[in-house]
Amino acid sequence: MIVLGIESSCDETAVALVRDKKEVLSSIVATQIDVHKEFGGVVPEVASRIHVENISICIEKALKEANLTMEDVDAVAVTRGPGLIGCLHVGVQAAKTLAFAYHKPLVPVHHLAGHIYANELVVDLKFPVLALIVSGGNSELVYMKDEHSFEILGETQDDAIGEAYDKVARVLGLGYPGGPKIDKLAREGEPVYKLPQPKTEGKYDFSFSGLKSGVLQFVKRRERNGEPFSMADLAASFQETALNEIFSRVRLVLEDHPEIRHFVVGGGVSANSRLREKVDALRNEFTDVEFTVPPMYCCTDNASMIAVAGQIAYEAGRRGDASLTADSSWEIE
Ligand code: KG4
Repeated sequence: MIVLGIESSCDETAVALVRDKKEVLSSIVATQIDVHKEFGGVVPEVASRIHVENISICIEKALKEANLTMEDVDAVAVTRGPGLIGCLHVGVQAAKTLAFAYHKPLVPVHHLAGHIYANELVVDLKFPVLALIVSGGNSELVYMKDEHSFEILGETQDDAIGEAYDKVARVLGLGYPGGPKIDKLAREGEPVYKLPQPKTEGKYDFSFSGLKSGVLQFVKRRERNGEPFSMADLAASFQETALNEIFSRVRLVLEDHPEIRHFVVGGGVSANSRLREKVDALRNEFTDVEFTVPPMYCCTDNASMIAVAGQIAYEAGRRGDASLTADSSWEIE
């Protein structure tokens, strides 16, 4: 089965063709990062306008690179949500147009399901699965008892972890996107500064806004008192506190659910080198569990993952019709 996937939930316009959930025939990602850099973050209205300009070009390119025509495609899968509403509309409209013009089934895909199923591109998921999604818009722990069954065990109560990285980077004057810059700087420092430990209500939930404000207050206090500080040590301290927040919850879930067979990661923050070290530490501890951190091209927003999740949703009988609309806060459960 060949699925054409479309992703436009944030600042990447992406189109891919994937055969049987494994073979990426083409994957086009048009990123808008250079435009949003100027503003220090994604500007939703600007992002949707650029999607409109890019979408047809990306579809054409994806088909050309795969050496296919729309006649060869068996289904069209699209991110329906969650994400920025104006951005999602562009992808959904394009997918509906293709599906109805070429008489192909239309499959709505949840963005998080895409991040989880990106792992299928490199490994077969073994259920029950625990998925950690960490990106600029998401921080969730999702339990999958079986194929296409999703239960959110924990999530952020405020900012997503990637958003916290980006905001802290801005405070430190490192530029956007902040994640890779903090990751690099933190390797030159030690986590010696004590920052506020986030407080959460749910057992497996996270919180990052207090930590983010803690970094801002730390910088202001030091500047006010004329006390110098090490940027590298501060980056390392922020990163260690943020990742401990996540990994203490991951450990709790793995202890509470000994039936879990596979731990997978998705989202842009999975590129983080310290996060990968923390996964390695868990791997040595929970030897009955398989651990997968997919390569970078699978972690950040792309459309191959939407095509894979689309085929699985298709097999589970999910279909969209002419009334399909984008849903910026679509629930996965
Ligand atoms: O999944 P993604 O590409 O897109 C959206 O969420 O839209 O994730 C982007 C996020 C940004 O917040 C970026 O700062 C973060 O992933 N990121 C990282 C690293 N690389 C990207 N965060 C920490 N360490 C990294 N190496």
